[in-house]
Order: sequence, then structure tokens, then C-alpha cells
Amino acid sequence: MTTKVSIDGLIQDEAAAKIPVTDRGFLYGDSVYEVVRTYGGKPFALGAHLERLKHSADRLAMRLAAPPADGLEPIIRDIHATLAAAGHAESYVRVIITRGSGPMGLDPGLADHPRRVVIVAPLQPLPGSWYEEGVPIHLVATGRVGGHTLLAGAKSGNYLVNVLALGAAREQGAHEAILLDHEDRVTEGASSNLFVVADGQLLTPPLSAGILEGITRHKVCGLAARAGFPVTERAIHRTELRGADEIFLTSTLREILPVQRVDDQSVGDGRPGPITRRLLADYRAAATARSEQE
Ligand code: PDD
Repeated sequence: MTTKVSIDGLIQDEAAAKIPVTDRGFLYGDSVYEVVRTYGGKPFALGAHLERLKHSADRLAMRLAAPPADGLEPIIRDIHATLAAAGHAESYVRVIITRGSGPMGLDPGLADHPRRVVIVAPLQPLPGSWYEEGVPIHLVATGRVGGHTLLAGAKSGNYLVNVLALGAAREQGAHEAILLDHEDRVTEGASSNLFVVADGQLLTPPLSAGILEGITRHKVCGLAARAGFPVTERAIHRTELRGADEIFLTSTLREILPVQRVDDQSVGDGRPGPITRRLLADYRAAATARSEQE
């Protein structure tokens, strides 16, 4: 099974797909992206992902397509065409819009032709043991100052802080890095959001912490409220993780992943807790049902 790549609508095998070295995504991380997965072969929550892509592009003052096109239509067309060309049972779909190429220089005005890339790879199932036992996470101080940076909340190609934090976590044998802000508050994972169950409450950091508004996070908040454990959005200090009964991560690819320990400290009794297990079951049921309906 091969990975298929669409660049401005031209679908090729991964090995043949090429981007010019003058592309600003390559030079400066001057791009926005989304990761979508399929259930039953259909892209899940595509509308929400495209809305976030548009929001990210707006934050970067970037168009999704050269005028007069508005951008979303060709992206949707390319996603469906690339999925069909790849023909996997379930797919990982990455959509990237770069500001395009132009004369060398930082000025964003040097490029006026966004480049549209869709990568469709076979979805790699995650190990069942991660869900049965939970995964270790590692806290990483980033010095990040709340949600006041220019890029806060945008899913841009500028991921170096997350890349370095994940590298530090992997050196400690952890699955995911949790980024702390300048006051040692928990923000989010390198590529996930985080939830904590403590004192009978389900908590998650607020968007004002400068986190990405995860699409899984949003769905989990809805499912949790329906299951009778409404989510409170508030700042969570790193020391609060010590007394947590349950912690879990959310992301498109991981769905809801239980955390077994935070650095050297076990979470709860070291086994995935009842709220995490319930929400994972509800999430999978909802995602599967949605793909059958559509
Ligand atoms: N990452 N926070 C960050 C920094 C992320 O990169 C992601 C997603 C999330 C979770 O968002 P969602 O539930 O919409 O997937 C939170 C994607 C999956 C990635 O980069 O692979």
C-alpha cells in the first residue's frame, strides 16, 4: 500500500511528489496544516478540520488559494480524489497549505500563490497495550507565556518547540511531552490536548492557555457532559497532576489515550480509570456511528 500525494491537484506516489526548495513552508515553516483520519474510509469531522485550517490561515494572514478562489473547494476535492487513488481501508490524511514560493526573503508579500498539498497514508493502528495500560508522559518547561503569542491557537508548520519537547520526552522513555508555561501550568501535549480527573472533577486547560483547540477535545467535552461529568476549563498547575485520579490525552490519531505515569509518579492506581475508559468507548462508538450514517 503506497502513500499518495496531491500537490495542487496532481496526484503522485510519495517518492515522485516534489516541492521546490524555495517553498516558504520549507524555508520558514510558513504554512498551516491539519491531520484528519478516516473511520469506515470516510474523513472524520472534516468540516471542523477545514474550519480550523481556515482559522489558522487567517491568523497567519495567509490565503488558502490564489484569488479569486476562496480555497476550501479545491482542498475538499483533492482530499476525496487522493483518498480514492490511495484506496486504503483506513487513512491518515494530512492537508498542508504553504504560502508558496517567491524571491528569497522573509516578507510574506513575496509569495502570492499558496501551495496545496494532501498526503494520504495507510492509517497505522496504535498498540492495544497503550489503551490497556496507559502511556508515560514527561513534563517539559517551555517558558511559553500564555495565549499571547502571535501564533497561539493556529496550527502552523512552525512546530519546533513541540519537536524539541517531544525529543526530551522520548529521551526519558515517555510517549508524549506536556508543555508547561512560564508559571509551571500545564498547557497541552506536543501533539495532543490533556484532561485530568481530580477530586471528582474533569478538568482541561482553557484556550486562553494558548493551546490548540483540539477537535477531539471539543468532542470529548460534549460526550463527557452527556455522560454526566461536565468538563471545567481552568488553569492546571503541574503540582495538581500529582494528586490526579486519572489523566488522558486526546488527539485525532490517539482518540482518548490513558496516561499511566507523569515522569516518576503513577497516576491513580496506575491503571486506566473508569471515566477515561467510558469516554474512550463513547468516542469510538460516536466516530464509528458517524461514518456509517454519512
Ligand atoms: N496534532 N495540540 C497540538 C499542539 C496538536 O498538534 C494537536 C493535533 C492537538 C489535538 O488536536 P486534534 O484533536 O484536533 O487532533 C492538540 C495532530 C494530530 C498532529 O500534528 O499530528
